[in-house]
Amino acid sequence: MYTPSSSKYETMKYNRCGKSGLLLPALSLGLWHNFGEVDDFKTARHIIRTAFDKGITHFDLANNYGPPPGSAETNFGSILKKDFGGHLRDELIISTKAGYRMWEGPYGEWGSRKYLLSSLDQSLKRLGLEYVDIFYSHRPDPDTPLEETMMALDHAVRSGKALYAGISNYDAQQSRKAFEILRNLGTPCLIHQPKYSMLVRWVEEGLLDVVEEYGVGCIPFSPLAQGLLTNKYLKGIPENSRAKKEHGFLQMSEVSKERIAQMKLLNDIALQRKQSLSQMALSWLLKDNRVTSVLIGVSSEEQLLNNLACLDNTSFSGEELNAIESILKA
Ligand SMILES: NC(=O)c1ccc[n+]([C@@H]2O[C@H](COP(=O)([O-])OP(=O)(O)OC[C@H]3O[C@@H](n4cnc5c(N)ncnc54)[C@H](OP(=O)(O)O)[C@@H]3O)[C@@H](O)[C@H]2O)c1
Repeated sequence: MYTPSSSKYETMKYNRCGKSGLLLPALSLGLWHNFGEVDDFKTARHIIRTAFDKGITHFDLANNYGPPPGSAETNFGSILKKDFGGHLRDELIISTKAGYRMWEGPYGEWGSRKYLLSSLDQSLKRLGLEYVDIFYSHRPDPDTPLEETMMALDHAVRSGKALYAGISNYDAQQSRKAFEILRNLGTPCLIHQPKYSMLVRWVEEGLLDVVEEYGVGCIPFSPLAQGLLTNKYLKGIPENSRAKKEHGFLQMSEVSKERIAQMKLLNDIALQRKQSLSQMALSWLLKDNRVTSVLIGVSSEEQLLNNLACLDNTSFSGEELNAIESILKA
């Protein structure tokens, strides 16, 4: 039996998602890796419980998370049923997405109404839920009219199968168009989910301005660059790491000598701030108030607890920022 901690809301910070009524925790947990059928269910369940005990109310999924695709939703659905029955559903923000290849044939990926709405029904079945809180278009589709994709999101919300609509991986120009269409349909976009970290900075060239202009929230994914911005690889590539796993998306080639040398320099600054490298990388994103929540992944409770402590220090001196910038530019 799981009884959530009575102090769960005491330490987490909750930020307003753009100009909406929804508050999201400063850190949210993503289930892309470590929650599939290939992973240890007991560990996954333990991580979810600890996250909620620490005030993480938002869990992010997608139709294709696993492996195999769909299994992260099935596992999370089973954890929800075992541990989060009854009124606890109202304390959770659960998101899912559709956009990448999920099933065979011409209707199993991208942005058609046919694919998005069928996929949402499949996700709800796997999750054992009547609705998700946020339904995302996972990526822009170059061949489907944007109106069709946005109308499918609008329909998902109007049908009660999602409470809010979001987009992910859309560039600044595509986002502006999507926000306009959704606004005109009467379902304003709640949130944008882009890749953003100290190592991936494209959102700074326009997207952050657009989300602010339209009052849309922003939840960066892979904030630790899949583990590069942590102490995980500072002494080589451990066996139990995403880079070593057959199904991990982090390529061994990305863990280069040059990259590790750069991470060691960043780690020195983190130590001066009395933080771990991962804590500093997360704080660095949270210093911008256009960032609503930072979407982390973890493979253990220890990583989760380490990352949560970033909330103790999210401000940077000008000197620290300049030092970080010169390491990142080198
Ligand atoms: N919208 C999209 O297209 C998209 C794409 C990718 C991800 N996402 C979302 O974003 C979420 C997070 O992405 P991500 O998993 O790539 O995030 P990440 O936070 O950049 O990387 C997570 C990995 O970093 C390592 N790590 C985390 N904390 C650590 C710590 N304190 N010390 C040492 N290592 C640590 C772990 O690697 P090991 O497993 O090696 O221990 C962990 O699996 C996903 O779950 C998903 O919800 C969305």
